[in-house]
Amino acid sequence: MSKFHLGWFTNFSNPPWNHQWAGTEGRDWPSGDAHVEFTRALERACFDYIMLEDSSMVSDIFEGSSRVDLKYGLYSPKHDPLMLAPKLAAATSKIGIIATASTSFYPPWLLARRFASLDHIAHGRIGWNAVTSSEDRAAQNHGLDGLPPHDERYDRADEFVDLVKNLWDSWEPDAHVLDRENRVYVDHEKVHVLDHRGKYHASRGPLNLMRPPQGHPVICQAGGSPRGRAFAAKNADTLLTAGGEPADMKAYRDDVRARMAEAGRNPDGCKIMYITTPVMADTEDEAQAKAARLRASSAAKLETSLAHISAVTEIDFAALDLDTEFSELSTNGHTTTLANFTKLGSTPREAAIAWANANFRYVGTPDSVAEQMGEVMAEVGGDGFLITGNIGRRFVGEITEGLVPALQRRELVRSEYRHDTFRENLLEF
Ligand SMILES: Cc1cc2nc3c(=O)[nH]c(=O)nc-3n(C[C@H](O)[C@H](O)[C@H](O)COP(=O)(O)O)c2cc1C
Repeated sequence: MSKFHLGWFTNFSNPPWNHQWAGTEGRDWPSGDAHVEFTRALERACFDYIMLEDSSMVSDIFEGSSRVDLKYGLYSPKHDPLMLAPKLAAATSKIGIIATASTSFYPPWLLARRFASLDHIAHGRIGWNAVTSSEDRAAQNHGLDGLPPHDERYDRADEFVDLVKNLWDSWEPDAHVLDRENRVYVDHEKVHVLDHRGKYHASRGPLNLMRPPQGHPVICQAGGSPRGRAFAAKNADTLLTAGGEPADMKAYRDDVRARMAEAGRNPDGCKIMYITTPVMADTEDEAQAKAARLRASSAAKLETSLAHISAVTEIDFAALDLDTEFSELSTNGHTTTLANFTKLGSTPREAAIAWANANFRYVGTPDSVAEQMGEVMAEVGGDGFLITGNIGRRFVGEITEGLVPALQRRELVRSEYRHDTFRENLLEF
């Protein structure tokens, strides 16, 4: 089997601040220094990328109040990922850095410019997590009453991505000629006006910066619905999705690859990354005991999980009877997340606990977890894992200094970067 890829997902939470192994990072992270430290560790472990998630709201859906969301630091506070990305880029030289930005709120020209600038600053190591956003609360921070309907958001996003790509392409690769003899800095014949007037967006163009070093920064996405998958098949270079049963992982991958082929793309051009939080300790018994502790039900876990699902679906789960079987629920937010959530148990309480534990699938010593991950990848066919969990020194260290060396000894992941740009490393195998 060929090697698989590794990414890190920052996962809607801040570094740990109150558990036994929390150091100073839970308090100090706003300077960005802790993220620099983590990104350097991930680069030492030859990760393909770190993905900086984003949303733009303080949710108050659960209980009709932000009490629980803020108490546990759910979805906020957080940096604007586009401001953090250059700091991470300046401190590293190989790892890819993906920043999330919404097609529902950014004007396309501004987004094209920011990601082109970032890709130049990072010497070709930037990715864009193209999200359509899921919350009216976020829309309201941008002066809108609410979001457009789910599928229409993807229609808007399709046109948005095409326009952004055209803006990146509005400078031919050799437009920046620096011709000393003829005193020409930029050849104006190689810079093109677009005059785009579409159904949803308009921009005259051209961009006011050269084409990004990667041509197009890597595009990341996480759509699970049929419309989301169609968008991904057309646009995504890497896809993020839930882990779960290998048969489901394979079915998702096969479906996306078939859609890519239908859209005229090479299915190997998109790397599908499955979320997981490995649970490791020095011995199998200790790891199993640790997993049992992590999986144990608690009031805090229940509250966090319910507030989390409330935030992304904008359904107040505090208003439901936690022990009554689910009734029909629908959302204009994360449709796939809601569908997955309700499958995990017959009542909100069962589902919330199972959801909080869903990522604890691989348990053992670093060696046995490496073996389990290798077996699942062989069954699924690729392409890699997206590690998530608390972004604290101890857990990051378990991954970068324990798991990754064990994976490298099995030649399941890379031991060195072969290329300088994110896309080249992502497409290497
Ligand atoms: C691993 C993962 C990361 C995600 N990160 C973000 C994010 O940072 N910001 C955001 O608005 N949505 C994020 N989403 C939500 C997706 O963009 C998408 O809205 C969601 O998966 C529902 O897709 P669907 O509408 O096609 O079902 C993420 C989803 C997943 C699975």
